[in-house]
Amino acid sequence: MQYRNFGSTGRQLSAIGYGGMPLSLKDDRPSEDEAIRVLHRAVDLGITLIDTADSYCLDSSEAGHNERLIGKAVSLLPARQRDAMFVATKGGLIRPERRWERDGSAAHLRTVCEQSLKNLRIDRISLYQFHRIDLKVPIEESLTTLAELQREGKIEHVGVSNFGVDQLEEAARYVKVVSVQNEFSPFKVTAARPVSEADAKLDPNIAGTLEYTRQRDIAFLCWCPLGGMGRADSVGGEHAEAAALAGDLGVTPQRLALAWELAQGPMVFPIPGARRIRNLEDSAAAAELKLTDEQVTLLNRIWGI
Ligand SMILES: NC(=O)c1ccc[n+]([C@@H]2O[C@H](COP(=O)([O-])OP(=O)(O)OC[C@H]3O[C@@H](n4cnc5c(N)ncnc54)[C@H](OP(=O)(O)O)[C@@H]3O)[C@@H](O)[C@H]2O)c1
Repeated sequence: MQYRNFGSTGRQLSAIGYGGMPLSLKDDRPSEDEAIRVLHRAVDLGITLIDTADSYCLDSSEAGHNERLIGKAVSLLPARQRDAMFVATKGGLIRPERRWERDGSAAHLRTVCEQSLKNLRIDRISLYQFHRIDLKVPIEESLTTLAELQREGKIEHVGVSNFGVDQLEEAARYVKVVSVQNEFSPFKVTAARPVSEADAKLDPNIAGTLEYTRQRDIAFLCWCPLGGMGRADSVGGEHAEAAALAGDLGVTPQRLALAWELAQGPMVFPIPGARRIRNLEDSAAAAELKLTDEQVTLLNRIWGI
């Protein structure tokens, strides 16, 4: 595994993280025993960055499902491995009747942060990310609440998710943000596009966020780095040239995509999800796949940067 500085935290974390969402989101999710086996295999592969959220569950009646799985898996590890883990969770989304809705109010964030501590079986959360801006609540209210929780010792570091450059500029007034989690994959390269080319209709407009994080020593976590649970199989399929390069290198198109994401800069941390150990192992190996500048340039062209 390759390790990278995680923004300004002083921590070095695995360049490839693990996204826990597929273990909880759908009816065909694995059993608890299977999920814990997957999580322990991630740790054995050297992965120290695990991403979760209280909203990774079937619906609100079991909010915290994914956090509880991860809390249990980490608690079963020997102390040396447990201490190396950096579990990043999020709050600000709710799942009534399986819908995704936003709640960025101070009262909600306080309540769910306390619950996340219990779910994860810890006294302090390594990274608490504000999941998505609630258009009914000023960013100031949401982020000053996280700053308070940090002062109270419940959160070590604060991150944000689904933020554009404008929102990041505003966030910096209320709290020190060490990481941004935005979508980035061969299917979605907006974060790598210049902010001047922004599509104003995007909610939020994440253009320019890769460059913004690079310049400010902020970690960039790529969500859905393989295009998401329904699309990961087609990473190579839609682009014959990328599939051919993967074939030449003797790797899967998925591993090639993750290596290409890592090559976008030292602040990038893809967090692929997986229910199957075979997929987890293939993705983790992307940290060892070094691409030449020419290969990165070729993939940038193929995938539209
Ligand atoms: N902040 C946000 O708003 C937000 C939104 C979405 C996701 N996320 C985070 O980002 C993480 C990643 O996103 P995601 O899990 O939705 O999508 P993803 O990582 O793009 O794709 C996950 C799917 O890819 C398959 N897969 C994984 N590695 C593979 C490989 N090497 N070869 C072939 N297939 C492979 C897995 O299949 P199997 O399950 O069958 O193994 C899994 O279902 C989530 O788990 C979550 O933590 C955050």
